[in-house]
Amino acid sequence: MKELNVAIVGATGLVGQEIIKILEQRDFPIASIQLLTSDNSSNTELFFNHQRIEIGKATAEIFHNVNVAFFSAGLDVSRRLAPLAVKTGAVVIDSSAAFTTDPTVPLVVPEVNSEDIKWHKGIIANPSCSTIQLVVALYPLHKVNPIKRIVVSTYQSVSDSGADALKELTSQAKLVLGGRRVCPHIFSHQIAFNILPEIDVFLDNGYTKEEQKIVEETQKIMHAEDITISATCARVPVYFGHCEALNVEFVSPTTPEEARSILAKAPGIRILDDSAVSFYPQPWAATGSNHVFVGRIRKDISHPNGLVMWVVADNLRKGAALNAVQIAEAGIQMGLIGQNQRQRSSTTRSHSAKGAKLRKENNSRCVN
Ligand SMILES: NC(=O)c1ccc[n+]([C@@H]2O[C@H](COP(=O)([O-])OP(=O)(O)OC[C@H]3O[C@@H](n4cnc5c(N)ncnc54)[C@H](OP(=O)(O)O)[C@@H]3O)[C@@H](O)[C@H]2O)c1
Repeated sequence: MKELNVAIVGATGLVGQEIIKILEQRDFPIASIQLLTSDNSSNTELFFNHQRIEIGKATAEIFHNVNVAFFSAGLDVSRRLAPLAVKTGAVVIDSSAAFTTDPTVPLVVPEVNSEDIKWHKGIIANPSCSTIQLVVALYPLHKVNPIKRIVVSTYQSVSDSGADALKELTSQAKLVLGGRRVCPHIFSHQIAFNILPEIDVFLDNGYTKEEQKIVEETQKIMHAEDITISATCARVPVYFGHCEALNVEFVSPTTPEEARSILAKAPGIRILDDSAVSFYPQPWAATGSNHVFVGRIRKDISHPNGLVMWVVADNLRKGAALNAVQIAEAGIQMGLIGQNQRQRSSTTRSHSAKGAKLRKENNSRCVN
């Protein structure tokens, strides 16, 4: 396999660090790697495959010769630099929310819609962590028995808000245990020994932006605008791992046994489900794993076509870094990453018509 020139923007951050680990672990074909940050960390060093790499500053010029650039440095950096990186010929895989709902940018979870990579024009968006674990768990069921409605409540760890949020939880926990008052910086209120039903900003409809993202991203990835979704997202005082309680209504009746049998064969999923021995997914156990864990699968007693389940994943791995690397691997396999700009645009043009057809076909599968 051809080796690629890779850049990671946000290499010192939680997601950037995890991308480095995953590229090492998966033997990603790398010819060269640039680790990029802001002024704060540039000119310091990190290690990649036991080699010392000097960190550089992320600028528009630095992407010359880069084949694939992983962006995880926040919305503003992606909006500013990703289009410039694409102009120099790089394919950008962006973990911020800058392009997730842009209809001209594919939003990809490889277990669900890797075919959408075919119509990328240089940027491929990595969905938010809460959406990724949701669609990995639900898409295999949706293919067999279309989903009509999802009600999801999330319990999201603080690492979702970056490295400074981890420090805030630790320092607040120490203060509270020492009987002292805390002064929140990252979160609106004390997060230690507390739960906050607020992730991202509040919108006019009363939902938060995180909740709205779950709706729009799920519909986009699953090509299922007809699925109605209501989300409530809460921040919990856990370092790593997101949990989700799902109430799912299908077109036809189904059973927990059928769901377990479908999910047992689905990619990226592990079922942990034995209430007799209190066996179910938990965030501490999911930390460091590549899988999405599903348990507590049961009939929804409030609806004849409903199931309830509990879904857990490591937000930094499958929820961010692993999914980004899997997108790159799928793009390489399709011959859509690693080419020069001119080759890519002609391949992308021929695929975009197919992509539109595919989206239309998938949409027509969904039932109200
Ligand atoms: N954490 C998660 O679970 C998760 C999951 C999915 C998506 N995401 C998204 O991924 C992105 C990064 O999240 P994170 O948790 O890794 O945050 P983080 O720990 O706060 O790291 C932020 C990174 O961005 C870099 N950075 C900041 N300003 C920059 C600039 N102007 N130019 C270049 N680099 C800059 C920082 O470098 P310095 O060291 O120089 O400050 C650092 O490497 C965010 O958009 C987030 O929404 C996060």
